[in-house]
Order: sequence, then structure tokens, then C-alpha cells
Amino acid sequence: MERIVIDGGHTLSGTITIGGAKNSAVALIPAALLADGVSTIENVPNITDRDALFDIVKHLNCDINQNGSEIKIDTTNLKNVLITQELSVRLRASYYFMGVLLGKYKRVEMYFPGGCNIGSRPIDLHLKGFKALGAKFTKRGHKYTIKADELKGAEITLDFASVGATINIMFAAVYAKGRTIIHNAAKEVEIVNIMDFLNNMGAKISGAGTDTIIIDGVTKLNGASVKVIPDRIEAGTYILVGALLGKDLKVEGIVKEHNQALFDKLNEMGVKYKFEGNAVILNKTDKLKPVSVITQVYPGFPTDLGQPMSVVLTQAEGISKMEETIWENRVGHYPYLQKMGAKIDVDGLKATIYGKAKLVGTEIHATDLRGGAALILAALIAEGTTSIYDIDYILRGYENIIHKLSNVGAKIKLEEI
Ligand code: UD1
Repeated sequence: MERIVIDGGHTLSGTITIGGAKNSAVALIPAALLADGVSTIENVPNITDRDALFDIVKHLNCDINQNGSEIKIDTTNLKNVLITQELSVRLRASYYFMGVLLGKYKRVEMYFPGGCNIGSRPIDLHLKGFKALGAKFTKRGHKYTIKADELKGAEITLDFASVGATINIMFAAVYAKGRTIIHNAAKEVEIVNIMDFLNNMGAKISGAGTDTIIIDGVTKLNGASVKVIPDRIEAGTYILVGALLGKDLKVEGIVKEHNQALFDKLNEMGVKYKFEGNAVILNKTDKLKPVSVITQVYPGFPTDLGQPMSVVLTQAEGISKMEETIWENRVGHYPYLQKMGAKIDVDGLKATIYGKAKLVGTEIHATDLRGGAALILAALIAEGTTSIYDIDYILRGYENIIHKLSNVGAKIKLEEI
């Protein structure tokens, strides 16, 4: 077991380079299995979720060739076998193999996926979409069997603009007969990245990035290439670090439009930053204005940045509000922030955060990926030393986080315990 130990209060300067988006990569890797032959995915982040997906891809008898952040997946010998519980529980995104294998082979058998403990995380919308395309499913314990004699294009209106359901229905529909239209589709930028990959393979999909996606079924997809877009959540996390501790801290490799909601909020708070090409340069802002933040689907303020943002709000000049609206349980970090000295009233998913708190280092536990990132941020500004336990959550989604932060002057290390 390992823990992260941080000595807080140090100014950070230099450059942090953003990697490929976790939430794109975890869909692009399964998507490669839709094609016949070899696909190349560039800019794949070095995170443990990637490794968990690689194990599933290998279990399905595909070859993976890795050269740094570029991977090649060869599906020539693909075998559509049961995905075991041991493999699927390692990450939530294992659910993408449902859409992919159902789409390609009209049959998939796997266990219910795992992931962070941020809510009940049902997959009813995915299953409803598969059903609309003509599939039937049975569930024995945690094992799902989903199959169809034939998949036929359909009009599907999602009850909620779910990222996972939108992508999974695209996967299942890509080989379906005729036209599928997804109404109230999720608009997240990662979905455009997935559409581009599928279209490079020969799919006929349009509308990703809007709330209506149209998929005209095809009969063959060939291996193709794609580059993972920059991780807007990783970028946002380091941007928030810069707002608290930066001295010309450069966060490089971003697409600023993907973080528009964050920049709008930073403007409201009076954070000092400037853009330079594909980078943003940040400086510690002494008088942060308190604000009200409500997480929303894209292009609203991302739920994945709510927890790191709550740490910034502990330093504002007054009382801020933070409300989570997407997940039922994205509040696990608050007790630890309180333990460090933050004054926060938590009422369900709403928090009132009192500013100008003096945070002091102590022993704390990550309870989920983004909550863990929030604790790192808190430890970086705290007085003294903080030890963070259960860090596997963090390593699932932030590549080389220790190296990236120590490189700009943070006193952070990984310790074996
Ligand atoms: C993705 C992201 C995650 C992000 C979330 C919302 C990945 C791997 N993860 O998760 O980082 O926080 O989008 O931006 O891309 N829901 C249902 N039924 C379903 C599916 C979802 O009720 O079948 C509900 C969920 O419980 C949740 C909400 O819809 O309350 C959002 O879920 P969804 O957009 O599907 O999130 P994920 O794709 O799992």
C-alpha cells in the first residue's frame, strides 16, 4: 500500500503538461474492438483505468502494442467471451464493452461494472437503449447477458443526458440496420472524440456534441487512428491549483473552450490568468470573491471539478455555495476538509463553504477519484504535512500526478506503508 505525503504551502511555478482525456480514452480503447484489424490511439493517458481496460482487451484475445502514449490494438483474433467479475469491477467504463460486443456480435456476457463510489450508478438508460435497438437482456446475480437476433435502428430519447448511455448506444447502433437517432444525447466533448474515431473506421455518425446524434448503420468497420483530446478535468484541476499557489504556473496543452464554464467561474472570483497559445498561465489570487457553483451536464460546470473547486472556495473572502446535481455521493471529501480546519456546512449535496479557512496538515483518506484530487489540492495549501491514504482512486485518473506537481515545486511524494 502507498500513501501520498505533502508538505503544504509552497508556491508553484513552471509548466504542467496535460495528458489525454481519461473519459475519452476509456471509451476509445473498447471502441477499437468494433473494427476489424489494427487501430491506433495516440495520447492515451498513463492511468490505472487504462491498464484495467488493457486487461479486458487481452482477455478478449486482442493484441496490444504500446509505445509510450501511443497504442495499437489488433482485433484479428478477437474472441467474444464472458468478461469476468474480477475484470469488470476494476472500473466503471468496462460497461463500454456491452455496447461494443453487442454491436459487433449481437451478444455480450459480462458482470456489472465497478468504479468510484459516488452514487448508485445504474445502467438502466444503457439497457433501455439496447432494448430499443432490438436486444433482450437477462441478469443473474451481477451477470448480464444481452443479445439480439438482429439490431435495428430506432429513435431513442434518453431520460437523462447520460455520457455513458449516449456512447454505449452509439457503439451498439453502429452496425444496426438503418438509422438510429439519440435524442437528449449528452453533449460532452469526449463524445465528439469517440464519433470521430468511429467515422474514421467507416461509421456514419453525425451530431455528436449536440443533443441529437444520428447513426446510420454500416456493415463493416476497418482499423483506424485517433488522438485522445486533452483532459479538461485534469487541466481544470491544475488550473485550480494555479489559482491558489501559482507563480506564473503554466498549464499547457489545453483547449480553452472545453473549460469555458470553469473560466467563467474564475472570472467571477477574480482569479488572475492569461492565455498563451494552448496554455494558460496562473498566479495566486489573494482576494478570491465567494461564488455559487452548481454542477451541470456539459457545457455547464463539470461535476468532476466540483470537489476540487470546493477547496478553492475555502479560501474565498466570504461565504460560497457548492451544489452537486449529477451524483448522489460526491461529498465524501468534506469531512476530511473539515478535519483539516475548513468550515463547511454540508446539507445533502449542498454545501455552504466559509472562506479564509486556515487548513492544517493531518491524515486523510481519498473516497473517490475527484474527491482525492480535491484533498491533494487542500494538502498543497495546508500548513504542515498531510498524509493521504487510499490513493488508488487518484491514480486511476490522474497520470503522473506526483511527478507533475513535484516538477513545479510541490513537496509531494509517494510513500510505501
Ligand atoms: C461520465 C464520466 C464521469 C462524469 C459523468 C458526468 C466517464 C468514464 N465518466 O460518467 O467522470 O462525472 O460522466 O459528467 O466518462 N444514470 C442513470 N442511468 C444510467 C446512466 C446514468 O440514472 O443508465 C445517472 C447516473 O446515476 C448519474 C447521471 O445519470 O446520476 C450521470 O451519469 P452519466 O452521465 O451516465 O455518467 P457516466 O457516463 O457514468
